Amino acid sequence: MTTERSEAPAGATYPTREELEARLEAMNQAALRGGGPKAVERQHARGKLTARERIDLLLDPGTFRELDRFVVHDCQDFGMADKKVLGDGVVTGYGRIDGRLVYVFAQDFTVFGGSLSGAYARKIVKIMDLAMRNGAPIIGLNDSGGARIQEGVVSLGGYADIFLRNTLASGVVPQLSAIMGPCAGGAVYSPAITDFIVMVRQSSYMFITGPEVIRTVTHEEVTKEELGGADAHGALSGVSHFSVPDDAAALALLRELLGYIPQNNMEEPPRRETGDPVDRACPELDELVPTNPNKPYDVKELIRAVADEGRFLEVQEDYAPNMVVGFLRLGGRSVGVVANQPAHLAGVLDIGASLKGARFVRFCDAFNIPLLCIEDVPGFLPGVDQEHGGIIKHGAKLLYAFAEATVPRVTLIARKAYGGAYCVMNSKHIRSDLNFAWPTAEIAVMGSEGAVNIIFRKELAAADDPEARRRELVAEYRDKFANPYRAAELGYIDEIIRPRTTRARLVEAFDSLEGKRDRNPPRKHGNIPL
Ligand code: HXC
Repeated sequence: MTTERSEAPAGATYPTREELEARLEAMNQAALRGGGPKAVERQHARGKLTARERIDLLLDPGTFRELDRFVVHDCQDFGMADKKVLGDGVVTGYGRIDGRLVYVFAQDFTVFGGSLSGAYARKIVKIMDLAMRNGAPIIGLNDSGGARIQEGVVSLGGYADIFLRNTLASGVVPQLSAIMGPCAGGAVYSPAITDFIVMVRQSSYMFITGPEVIRTVTHEEVTKEELGGADAHGALSGVSHFSVPDDAAALALLRELLGYIPQNNMEEPPRRETGDPVDRACPELDELVPTNPNKPYDVKELIRAVADEGRFLEVQEDYAPNMVVGFLRLGGRSVGVVANQPAHLAGVLDIGASLKGARFVRFCDAFNIPLLCIEDVPGFLPGVDQEHGGIIKHGAKLLYAFAEATVPRVTLIARKAYGGAYCVMNSKHIRSDLNFAWPTAEIAVMGSEGAVNIIFRKELAAADDPEARRRELVAEYRDKFANPYRAAELGYIDEIIRPRTTRARLVEAFDSLEGKRDRNPPRKHGNIPL
């Protein structure tokens, strides 16, 4: 527009509106190109999406508002002064998932391998601070070569700035991580502190030291995938919570997961209307538990039978499968379930199961998600490995996590509740609110066979027909203790319910606990046996 020019003092020229617009547009276009078409092509050839494509799939359409699009690094060393890319390798901002505010950063591998500079770290720190102040989840999409090598300690400082915020945000706003490429060295500690990690099979890996260093130091031969791929962390280390086939599945899963979780620790989880009748009978449950206590069944069938629309989002499916944890809805309310799995190792509690259960319970408690405990546990796993591996302290974590939880808590004993495991698995004594049992429940110090072998050892040794006497005594012990009635007499079980009524009773139970107020004594923090 010529008017601007005519207003200029003699000799001065100001840009026109078109020029201003063109400059902004050129800057935007440059930023959107990321590392350029070749790098994008390489990213796609590996089956990976770019940072911006990922954000588009993650958020509700058209809701992403990018911040710091024009930030560049300030490194002058190693030829970096003239190598600047707008945005500097990470895309940050906020947007909506199912209409709810989230903050997001997506590392852009096409720019300097997604490596983290000081400027890049400041972008992430900025959205983390905003998320904390505004009480909204933080989602990190990780795909990075780690510390920007040219920046040295500036980069390390940037990581530490992020780690601090991950720690301070823990239990305040939900933090979700997807690993969608490399995540190595100390960089792993940011996702490790977050609440959930999703890993993409084949294209992502996490490790502190990679295969080459390991080969040099310990002479072990291992591939990246074997060492730190999705399956290694999903099934063996327990570092990750979900393994998915590709980027799109990872992003869809993050959306689904957030649907069970509140925006922050001061809010309740979202409720979702359901067409599934809350009083729906579950006749299939009448037949689920075999009357022979040594026969397995799949506890996930129980969970799906009671859940709204049969939907269950399992967490850490492949790790310690003798314990099942995850999210379901009951009458529209989000609930976290912790269940022994009789179909795997008879549902025994071991180190892995204890760690898995404890972490999940603490997440739910931190974010006001009611807890359902489904119990069928023969006790803790015996073994030198378990003892020397610290089952005492790890089992204590599960006990501690339940005992300190102040969210609504309901237990259903489907079959075995033996020994210390009875106490640990959300018993009445450690502040569970409502405890139900099915008629198949056996609440005792141990199974009848084991009990008879111990308390009648001498009598059995002296008996004319030890086997017949053993059968008699086992039957007697079973009749007395292998049922829920002694516990019900004492009020340790509130009610024995028929399996088919379970969904209705659980929905009612959580309804009745909606106004629950409970708190722990004031303290700086407890000292969970880490
Ligand atoms: C700077 C990096 C980089 C890094 C990759 N690039 N990693 N630039 N700092 N850390 C650059 C490459 O130079 C290359 O630039 C581009 O990104 C793509 O990398 P490629 O090597 O071509 O890609 P690829 O073959 O896929 O290999 C990816 C990789 C590899 C496995 C991640 O780049 C790699 O090993 N990078 C170094 C990883 C590392 O050692 N990081 C430091 C870890 S220690 P051009 O210009 O050629 O395209 C760490 C500590 C964190 O992170 C501490 C926190 C407390």
